Amino acid sequence: MSDTQPEIRKGLVGVVADVSAVSKVMPETNSLTYRGYAVQDLAEQCSFEEVAYLLWNGELPTAAQLAEFRREEAGNRAISPALHQVIKAFPHDAHPMDAIRTAVSFMGLEDPEAADTSEPATRRKAMRLLAKIPTAIAAAHRAAKGQEPVAPDPGLGFAENFFHVVLGKVPQPEVVKAFDVSLILYAEHGFNASTFTARTVTSTGADLHGAVTAAIAALKGPLHGGANEAVMHMLAEIGDPAKAAAWLQGRFDHKALVMGFGHRVYKHGDSRVPTMTKYAEKMAEVVGDRRWMEMSRILATEMVEKKNIHPNLDFPAGPAYHLMGFDIPLFTPIFVASRITGWAAHVIEQAADNRLIRPLSNYTGVAQRTVPALTERS
Ligand code: COA
Repeated sequence: MSDTQPEIRKGLVGVVADVSAVSKVMPETNSLTYRGYAVQDLAEQCSFEEVAYLLWNGELPTAAQLAEFRREEAGNRAISPALHQVIKAFPHDAHPMDAIRTAVSFMGLEDPEAADTSEPATRRKAMRLLAKIPTAIAAAHRAAKGQEPVAPDPGLGFAENFFHVVLGKVPQPEVVKAFDVSLILYAEHGFNASTFTARTVTSTGADLHGAVTAAIAALKGPLHGGANEAVMHMLAEIGDPAKAAAWLQGRFDHKALVMGFGHRVYKHGDSRVPTMTKYAEKMAEVVGDRRWMEMSRILATEMVEKKNIHPNLDFPAGPAYHLMGFDIPLFTPIFVASRITGWAAHVIEQAADNRLIRPLSNYTGVAQRTVPALTERS
């Protein structure tokens, strides 16, 4: 080993890979801003559509701009008969993240501007993806349950329509607001694994559908987006608040991960958690089922006291989605329906000032050798 070995940052920990004007993650204050606005303020004061506009355009929309954005989104929700056929052919036990990944890839085949990677075309494609992803998620979910798809309703807002296409009904406004808040909180988060994947694909000159397909593949993993599903499975396994502390001790004894806790960047808490917890608590009141939030409270208190590891957004989002009436396998696809906004903003930013992303590795394999003839190999 020479003294000139490069420093290796496993997992790219602490590596600043580029500049970005989309969002700012501030671990020192556990806070997050989108285009300069605190995410918790956006969640309380804006709709998801306003936040999508903000991420893509840098400023919040005027009333007229918002009306036009909503009109375009609502008008692009239908998916093609061919995609409906493809979705019907998916194995019924396919994971919904694999289903939406495949559906987005198929949308790329059909998109009228598929090969056009110019910024105006990418923006139009992003709008089509934002509008169509919920339709495809819902169609795949319903097909897996033997149900017919529900046609999107252009008269409904984005969050209302999501309930409509998945469940066939729109719940009361408090539930829609809680869901909208979750979409805002999930929309964007700096150079996380799926966003960095999207930027890497974009850096090769590939198109938006390719970048988003790859990003969905990255988001599925339980160390990333899949954690919101894992949290609900964990709560269901515990089953009773009285068992939460003993269950957690068992995880400590086995040095096992507790899903929904810890974060690569935030080490002292995640600013999205109090807002999501507040709305998850509201869902518990609306539904009249306090069990999940009570269990969550015990787990969070013990994790912070005993391990100093704080909950991340997936921790309150898991039970919130369950209380809203969504099946667990839909939780990470919901994350996709939201994060398409952040991914597209980063794809546009990467393409506007691109350099191929291509890091180096330090070779640790066998030393160079000659190829033996076939007869000389044992
Ligand atoms: N449960 C138990 N221990 C945890 C933990 C968790 N959820 N998260 C971190 N730790 C422990 C690690 O085991 C490690 O302990 P050690 O120093 O004794 O080895 C220590 O805390 C530091 O964690 P580290 O592995 O350096 O964090 P990371 O930055 O590599 O990983 C995550 C971040 C998100 C991958 C990790 O916290 C995790 O796997 N969390 C659970 C999955 C999850 O909720 N993901 C959603 C992220 S938004």
